[in-house]
This record gives sequence, C-alpha cells and structure tokens, in this order.
Amino acid sequence: MGKRILAVYFSQTGQLKRCAEAMAAPVQADPQIALDWCELRPQAPYPFPWPFFTFFDQFPETVHLVPPALEPLQIPAQRYDLIVLAYTVWFLSPAPPVTAFLKSDTGRALLHDTPVITLIACRNMWHMAQEQVKALLADAGARLSDNVVLTDAGSSLATFITTPRWMLTGRTDPLWGLPAPGIRDSEIAATRRFGDAIVTALHENRVDGRTPVLSGLGAVDADVRLVPSEKIGRRSFYLWGKLIRACGKPGAAARKPALALYAVFLVLMIVTVVPVTMLLRALLRPLTRRRQAAQKAYFEQPSGSSRLRLDERAHG
Ligand SMILES: Cc1cc2nc3c(=O)[nH]c(=O)nc-3n(C[C@H](O)[C@H](O)[C@H](O)COP(=O)(O)O)c2cc1C
Repeated sequence: MGKRILAVYFSQTGQLKRCAEAMAAPVQADPQIALDWCELRPQAPYPFPWPFFTFFDQFPETVHLVPPALEPLQIPAQRYDLIVLAYTVWFLSPAPPVTAFLKSDTGRALLHDTPVITLIACRNMWHMAQEQVKALLADAGARLSDNVVLTDAGSSLATFITTPRWMLTGRTDPLWGLPAPGIRDSEIAATRRFGDAIVTALHENRVDGRTPVLSGLGAVDADVRLVPSEKIGRRSFYLWGKLIRACGKPGAAARKPALALYAVFLVLMIVTVVPVTMLLRALLRPLTRRRQAAQKAYFEQPSGSSRLRLDERAHG
C-alpha cells in the first residue's frame, strides 16, 4: 500500500532546506511513496543578513516560545504515515516558525498519533532546543521516531566567530584562516543514507514511532560538554527575555537599551562560561565518566550515535 510523508521546514538561507532535500531524495524517487512539502512562512519575513538589533530582538519571544503568525499552511492531506520536521536552532530554542507550527491547531492535528523524525541543522548548540521540541511533540500526541542532527564543520571557537558573521553580514568567505561557516557539502549529501533507510522501513511497515529506524547510521553525536553552557544560557535568556518583553513589543525602541546591555553581558558570559564549563567537565571526566556517558546516551535518543550499519556497508 502507498505511504504518505509530510516534510515540514523553515530555512532562512536555504541550508536546512538543502539538508532536507538531500535526505528526502530517495523518498521522492520512490513511486510508492507520496512526499508533500510544507515550507513554513512567517507573515512578517525575517531579514537576511540580519541588522544587529533585529537579530538580537528575536531572542525574548523565541526563548519564551511565543509563536509568530504564519501564512496559511498548504497541506494536501490530513493524515500522514510519517512527518519529517526539519528545524534550525535560534537562541537555544527551535526557530520561531517551527514553534508556531508545533503550537498551531493544524500542526497539532497532523502530529497527533503520528511518527515524527526531527532533522536539525544548526551551529552546534541543539540539545536544549530538542528538549523543547520533544515536549511540544509529546503535547501534540506525536511519537518521536528518530532525530538526525547536522552541525557546522568548524570548532566551537571558530563558529562562535564565523556563524554570527554569516548571520549578520551574509559573508561566508574565509576569515583569518578559519573554516567557512555552515555544514559541509559532503555531510549534507551524505544525509541521503537516512532517506534510503526511511524508504526501506516504510516498505517494511516499521515506521511506528516506537522503535527508531535510523539507528546505526550515525544520526546524531551529542556533545555533552556543551550541555552545562546551554542550560545556563537558556536560563539567562529566559530571565532577561522576561525583562525585555516587559519593556515593550518586538521592535520597540524601549527594548534597545536592555538589549544592548544584555548583548555585552552575553558575549562576556560566552567567552567565560563556555570555556570554563568545558574545561571543568574535561577535568572531572575521570570522576564523572559514567554520568557523562549516560547523559550522552540520553541526548542521542532515539536514534543513537552508533555507525554500525555504515561500517557493515563499508566492509560488506
Ligand atoms: C537568530 C538566530 C539565532 C541562532 N541561534 C543559534 C543557537 O542558539 N545555536 C545554534 O547552534 N545555532 C544558532 N543559529 C544558527 C542556525 O541554527 C542555523 O544554523 C542558521 O540560521 C542557518 O539555517 P537556515 O537553514 O535557516 O539558513 C542561529 C541563527 C539565527 C538566525
């Protein structure tokens, strides 16, 4: 019997869209599977490149999961065998159009009792955002089948400079010998392996949202060294976000002084808290090895970081 998949996404520069398309290619090519795309379009489009204050002014609503108004969703069917939810991370939270979809009546009705595969493409700090997406999916009655994560190629230090530069100027050319921002083309192309596995699992009626179908394919590699900074960062965003929201609506001049103050505070916090917590974690690793392994396994659910099926393919 034919299967029907919905791929929902929001991508500003098109990077995440390329990831989703590479992953979906085998699905698209299968005559027995119908694939519908739904691009989430905010009624007030975001600028790119971002003016600094407009960029920073997004954080209070993003972190408080205040949904922006979307253009009406164009979705041909009411039920799907699988929904792929492709999202990027903004300020340690899901990008606002995705939050809007997860909170909308249409989105919730589609997600109810349906297996979902999340696909994340971001700089590298996705752990807390996925916790929020998991809660919103559970609230809608969806079942998380798998999670695939792609992150920017450079080190944390390099992308701390190159990714914001890309967002604020649109520039991706080399800077001070640092690698270009964004996800490697080869990694994007390799997401095809997930599409192949989805096709096989759909044909074998194995996509039920209870047992992952992308295990053994290196779907995700949690970097738990980032988790303490993400937790501290989220709490800070949340509290300052509350304060800034009390100053006025997005775009209001009254928010600017508090935003400017927080921007300085945040940069200082990032350059101190991130390296210090990463160093502390590294030093404490011999004592906390088991806890860190358990935490890594937790954040890698449901698909896990094993590459067993890839190794078998390489040697078989
Ligand atoms: C406003 C904003 C905030 C962002 N915050 C984060 C973040 O907290 N963590 C992260 O890993 N990436 C962050 N990013 C990078 C995005 O996740 C993503 O990699 C980038 O926007 C490109 O995605 P696109 O496909 O929408 O163009 C942010 C991007 C924007 C525009």
